[in-house]
Amino acid sequence: MSLLPTTTVATIARYVGQRVTLGGWVYHKTEKGKLIFILLRDGSGTIQCVTFKKNVSEETFATAQSLTQESSCRITGSVRADERALGGYELDVESIELIGPSHEYPITPKEHGVEFLMAHRHLWVRSAKQHAILRIRAEVIAAAQEWLNEQGFVRFDTPILTATAAEGTTNLFATDYFDLGKAYLAQTGQLYVEAGMMAFGKVYCFGPTFRAEKSKTRRHLTEFWMIEPEVAFADHEDNMRLQEEFVSAIVARVLERRRDDLQTLERDTTLLEQVRPPFPRITYDEAIELIAAHQGEVEGADPLPWGEDFGAPHETLIASKFDRPVFVERFPSAVKAFYMQPDPERPEVALCADLLAPEGYGEIIGGSQRIHDPVLLEQRIREHGLRIEDYEWYLDLRRYGTVPHSGFGMGIERVVAWITGTRHIRETIPFPRQLYRIYP
Ligand code: 4AD
Ligand code: MG
Repeated sequence: MSLLPTTTVATIARYVGQRVTLGGWVYHKTEKGKLIFILLRDGSGTIQCVTFKKNVSEETFATAQSLTQESSCRITGSVRADERALGGYELDVESIELIGPSHEYPITPKEHGVEFLMAHRHLWVRSAKQHAILRIRAEVIAAAQEWLNEQGFVRFDTPILTATAAEGTTNLFATDYFDLGKAYLAQTGQLYVEAGMMAFGKVYCFGPTFRAEKSKTRRHLTEFWMIEPEVAFADHEDNMRLQEEFVSAIVARVLERRRDDLQTLERDTTLLEQVRPPFPRITYDEAIELIAAHQGEVEGADPLPWGEDFGAPHETLIASKFDRPVFVERFPSAVKAFYMQPDPERPEVALCADLLAPEGYGEIIGGSQRIHDPVLLEQRIREHGLRIEDYEWYLDLRRYGTVPHSGFGMGIERVVAWITGTRHIRETIPFPRQLYRIYP
């Protein structure tokens, strides 16, 4: 016989006055003599289940008494609307069936250190705040993909085992690949998604990407998820317009559909409500001036000579001057990837932009117009010390019907950290991978 519940907490409103069976886990329990209040969570929500001794069998009352934190059970009862109740509904219990006991659940309502919680990540994901963050993550991903699909983009899956580097050679994860030598875990799907763009016009890839970053910051993971749209005939300006619409649509959808989770997280949504196009744009040169002018405001954001890349404190300082995400465009080509199109009026800078989130969450998008000229691209590959043989297929994209094109990559975890107001990126993915963390 199926054990499937007849409904979920999320859809309980349809069953007022009716008898239902819920399946879930005990979040909390309080006993008051002849009354036992079980706060049951079933993944879709939580509901108070009221067990009154005189309404149930002795066996059910004994079962209720035996329930401990995170015991799994099926509870049958009738649904009652109650304005005072959490979520507006309660269940008057008729019977309880214990499915899986839970002895001394390690995560109790008392404060635990983050190291302890991370070591119990497989259980921590059940807790209200973690649940809310990961629920929003799922919404961000769905929103991003559905928005692109509606705009006529085609999802084009790119390989994770790759032969070459795309974002620099210093942070590659290598593995042995049979007789073919070394393979590397993809740092980006971009080069391959460019092939898809020449086939479909507008494409995106979405998947895990890997960077062997030796940095132990709150913004870096060694495995993170990136969504990467790529558009034929689009220039740098078109690219930024697409990004501001994309990001605005994602934020709007989370505000619309995940209010309850944002409330659980006590997220102040004032700034999120203002996220709509156009986003401000400043150049790298202006950003350098801004940093110099506001010296001392953010720790570590010291003035930089032209040509150097920003650190996290610089990004925080720049973003703090704007009430919505801000584009920093036209970085020196020398600090950016080999494939970026130089500005025709000023070849030492690239037609690229980083999108910085407000409130100190840093870069959420990196994007650029791509070099479409085969000769220039080949020259850049050599200048970056990369082997031409490895990039013959990529150069082919420029040899057979090249077009100007642009694209970008948005890091899911950074966006989720920003939207949910989560300081550390490690809580925005179910099982974070970091320099010192690969368990659980
Ligand atoms: O700026 P990045 O390195 O750009 C690319 O990989 C391009 N190939 C994308 C493209 O144009 N198709 O990375 C893009 C985004 C960053 O803005 C950031 O949000 C995220 O990926 N990201 C990371 N997120 C977590 N941990 C890391 N170590 C990250 N590195 C990049
Ligand atoms: Mg970047």
